[in-house]
Amino acid sequence: MQIISVNTSTSYEVHIGSGLLESAGEKIATLFKECHVMIVSDDIVFPLYGTKLISSLEAAGFTCSNFVFKNGEERKRLSTIEALLEQMAAEHFTRSDIIVALGGGVVGDMAGFAASIFLRGISYVQVPTTLLAAVDSSVGGKTAVDLSRGKNLCGAFWQPRLVLCDTDTLDTLKPVNIQDGLAEMLKYGVICDKDLFYKVKDYKNGDMEALIARCVEIKRDIVSGDEFDRGQRMLLNLGHTIGHAVEAASEFTLTHGHGVATGLAIIARAAEKCGMAKTGMAKEIEEALTACDLPIKTDYNTGMLAELTLSDKKSSGDSISLIIPLDIGNTVIHKVLRTEVKDFIEAGK
Ligand code: GLY
Repeated sequence: MQIISVNTSTSYEVHIGSGLLESAGEKIATLFKECHVMIVSDDIVFPLYGTKLISSLEAAGFTCSNFVFKNGEERKRLSTIEALLEQMAAEHFTRSDIIVALGGGVVGDMAGFAASIFLRGISYVQVPTTLLAAVDSSVGGKTAVDLSRGKNLCGAFWQPRLVLCDTDTLDTLKPVNIQDGLAEMLKYGVICDKDLFYKVKDYKNGDMEALIARCVEIKRDIVSGDEFDRGQRMLLNLGHTIGHAVEAASEFTLTHGHGVATGLAIIARAAEKCGMAKTGMAKEIEEALTACDLPIKTDYNTGMLAELTLSDKKSSGDSISLIIPLDIGNTVIHKVLRTEVKDFIEAGK
């Protein structure tokens, strides 16, 4: 098992390893004493791991309730949060009680957001069960729900008190969900760790626990220096700005990781064509994405992708920040004029 300490406004540990669901109660009991726990999960994950988590928590003296919603991004809405908060109020949850998020990114983002606003803020623990949640969304305290105008438009920065990533839960993931996580893992490699990049490319022969831990360390280092996303944390958006546009163009039939993979390939080709990146970098990125069964191209037209890219919530004024890889392991934040975005995407398509 690996333990990574995160030092943000709230400091916490991320534990990564096998069998952590069984020891969750014991670990959570080192931080909280015999309180009421609301387990937030979805109807795919809860039947798989709910009983194991509850047994562990009850054995450690916790009283458990659960709130289980239908799996899928469509439920990541304020209406689901309202139902959860109403249930917690009806069950007399207090400020000393906690939420435990058992699931992937949607569950974690919503459970964290509910924790940030219930009684003006209570503690929560992340128990990620997807590779994407393990390496990205469970760490760093970004919580949110979607609004009709876009994803994650309503949320808060609210750090968890503990993250327990049981690597056994990855065994039940569909290939598409493994690929989604791999896209984010390759992203970390391109941002700042060449060695990680090649290890993720060859993940089938690697040690997944060690790879997850390295990704979490990178995220920890970036987030610790910019918890509230005003500077270097934007590096984590590598592949995301154009990737979100591809996801949106597909009306979200394309999964997040597949959108990120396409966005990463486009930005890499564009950076190389514009003379910013090292020659051969884009091909290396394409090869790694392909080795992870991820896409590198899209047929959506450039005008539509440019429009969707510019409607991203992070774009403001005359310019937009694009995250540009210069080489594997070296990525920068680069402002381009909004009027240049279409040509840039065209160069990378
Ligand atoms: N997922 C990007 C971030 O946490 O900033």
